[in-house]
Amino acid sequence: MFDPKAFIEESVKEIKEQIGDRNAIIALSGGVDSSVAAVLTHKAIGDKLTAVFVDTGLMRKGEKEEVEKTFKEKLEMNLIIVDAKDRFLNALKGVKDPEEKRKIIGKLFIDVFEEIAEKIKAEVLVQGTIAPDWIETRGNIKSHHNVALPHGMVLEVVEPLRELYKDEVRILARELGLPDSIVYRQPFPGPGLAVRILGEITEEKLNICREANAIVEEEVKKAGIDKDLWQYFAAVLDCKATGVKGDERDYNWIVALRMIKSIDAMTAHVPEIPFDLLKRISKRITSEIPNVSRVVFDITDKPPATIEFE
Ligand code: XMP
Repeated sequence: MFDPKAFIEESVKEIKEQIGDRNAIIALSGGVDSSVAAVLTHKAIGDKLTAVFVDTGLMRKGEKEEVEKTFKEKLEMNLIIVDAKDRFLNALKGVKDPEEKRKIIGKLFIDVFEEIAEKIKAEVLVQGTIAPDWIETRGNIKSHHNVALPHGMVLEVVEPLRELYKDEVRILARELGLPDSIVYRQPFPGPGLAVRILGEITEEKLNICREANAIVEEEVKKAGIDKDLWQYFAAVLDCKATGVKGDERDYNWIVALRMIKSIDAMTAHVPEIPFDLLKRISKRITSEIPNVSRVVFDITDKPPATIEFE
């Protein structure tokens, strides 16, 4: 049986020994893994840890505020929020190809992160890597390794959750007093809403996507099925369809809903979803978000579809 108290005690001791009095940095997304890694490290080295939340403009509604409230106000951690919205949206202007979008976002994220790492003279990079992240993808990489950032910084990597699985990380998160919204947060892709906006990312599509995702999350939680689902979200398609609002024809955007069950995201299936929930979400999206003409529900399992739309 996993003993969270014993793990915390042992891990805090180890992190202290590993990092010593060097400055450490962590990219905090608000996801459960990076949150737990940050809190453990903060317990070990206090203000020597700087947590960085990069606001790419591609985050969900209220995400930045929640991270700020939890880590800065409640846990009194040293948190830097970088407003990089314009940089990301400018770099993505006109880009339609999904892999190109991912590359641009990934590279820019590291650039922004390295600028902060340089500023605070970080020597150690803390990461919330958990066992499935490395067993399948890079099983041969040692637990002690360095990472070289693009502009020359070399950081020693510390991964306090390396040996753990998701359920254990959630137990730890609860033991450490993190709020349910973080403990049970659904997985959210690194490139954020970008992979839920098909084709070019514009302010208009981004707003639709953010609002629609907020409605889906709220309604799924209200219906009490959020913990049964692996992910539940909305995507904006790259085409318009005709609708009718009042007496007027309304040629506008299409939102697709996706709700899936999975155990490891390698495969996924679409379960039966209460029809009244789907109708409620559709009504809210078309009435609360002006430039959406219709809402569709994706019934494709993975495979053949991926979980995200891009
Ligand atoms: P797919 O869409 O490949 O997603 O079936 C499998 C899981 O991974 C998440 N996902 C990503 N996570 N960077 C990430 O960190 C990405 O580029 C990315 N793409 C997909 C997705 O949300 C699902 O949980």
